[in-house]
Amino acid sequence: MKILVIGTGGREHALALAASKSSMVEKVYCAPGNPGMATFGECVDISASDIDGLVSFAKSNDIDLTIVGPEAVLSLGVVDAFEQAGLKIFGPTQKATQVESSKDFAKNIMKKYNIPTAEYQTFDNYEQAVAYVKEKGAPIVVKEDGLKAGKGVTVAQSVAQAIEALDIAFAIEGNKVVIEECLVGFEFSLICLVHNDLVVPLEVAQDHKCVNDGDTGPNTGGMGSYSPVKKITPEIIQEATDTIMVPMAKAMMEEGVPFTGFLYGGLMLCEDGIKTIEFNARFGDPEAEVILCRLESDFVQAILDVMDGKEVNLKWSNKVSHGVVMASTNYPASSTKGALITGLDNSDALIYHMGTKMTDQGLVTNGGRVLMVVTMEDTLEQAFAHTYAEVEKIKCDELFYRHDIGKKDM
Ligand code: AMP
Ligand code: GLY
Repeated sequence: MKILVIGTGGREHALALAASKSSMVEKVYCAPGNPGMATFGECVDISASDIDGLVSFAKSNDIDLTIVGPEAVLSLGVVDAFEQAGLKIFGPTQKATQVESSKDFAKNIMKKYNIPTAEYQTFDNYEQAVAYVKEKGAPIVVKEDGLKAGKGVTVAQSVAQAIEALDIAFAIEGNKVVIEECLVGFEFSLICLVHNDLVVPLEVAQDHKCVNDGDTGPNTGGMGSYSPVKKITPEIIQEATDTIMVPMAKAMMEEGVPFTGFLYGGLMLCEDGIKTIEFNARFGDPEAEVILCRLESDFVQAILDVMDGKEVNLKWSNKVSHGVVMASTNYPASSTKGALITGLDNSDALIYHMGTKMTDQGLVTNGGRVLMVVTMEDTLEQAFAHTYAEVEKIKCDELFYRHDIGKKDM
């Protein structure tokens, strides 16, 4: 089989690597890919948002299955275009992608089908939003509607901070804002392979969204992760699947927007049960990097089976995977380009490329999140020590990282 992976980051590196290990796969193409993916696949110079280019590449190269990484191209309708061209693709349609791209859409379905989530209200009027924040008090969560790469959310600890977030959100013409109850508990990411009402949960990972140690500073796309998560037992995963993921898949069918692809539940284990923070319409990043390296059964076969409506039994390594993101100095405010990175050859870790570029001078930074260093060991403690030893071998003037990934579960 020939596989095409759409995207350019660490998640896509992990998806492509997992696909390349399938006994059925002879070649993995990555569009546009990255220097990490180029070590085992073939990168083709087509942007991840060039839907016409992607369709024509898949047609002329007899691609058997396309796997989509990023949400942006899903919300542009890449799946609709591939399906119209008779090409097999694993991902949600443009309409189904609204589960991520419109918080309002997702919240309305959760409310209608009693899927547990934070109490919320949507506002397109600044004064009414401010009045609501004052009425509810802090802590309170302010979210801009639309795709924000994990960055449009403020968990405000004071009314003043919430109003500041509203000032920023409403500075953009036509912006809608969701204001919701602040959930308190233990956060985890449950990603499922979904086709209509068939839902196959993968192993769980925990992301670290805040930029600085001790979960401080602004939210990012994610600064590190590990899998499995001790506190999230198989019973809890089953309960989350039964009470949140399956009901959501069924609700989307009921609403006439059936979902195919990776359905990502950002969930919170609260004192009074498991609640939904958000759904995403694709794999998580940096979750994919620590989950897929633990998958021992055939990834491509699993996707094909799910798309055929067959139950799938996945086999997982018992090892703990642990990964640390190395990001550009001013991330998430800005990213860097062109800073030289060395030391990768000395590493025995799995190194995923998130935002890098190969130049005549060598590998350089090219984005906000740049590399993710992952190791697998018998325990989280061992993996933690190993990953950080490997991180220290990588030299670059413009990179920083968190020092406490996984600490809370140790
Ligand atoms: P989101 O983009 O909705 O995943 O939000 C980003 C992060 O903000 C989440 O991963 C949580 O850590 C935090 N967050 C979002 N909504 C809530 C909430 N209702 N209560 C507590 N934390 C939240
Ligand atoms: N790691 C969070 C996300 O992919 O949205």
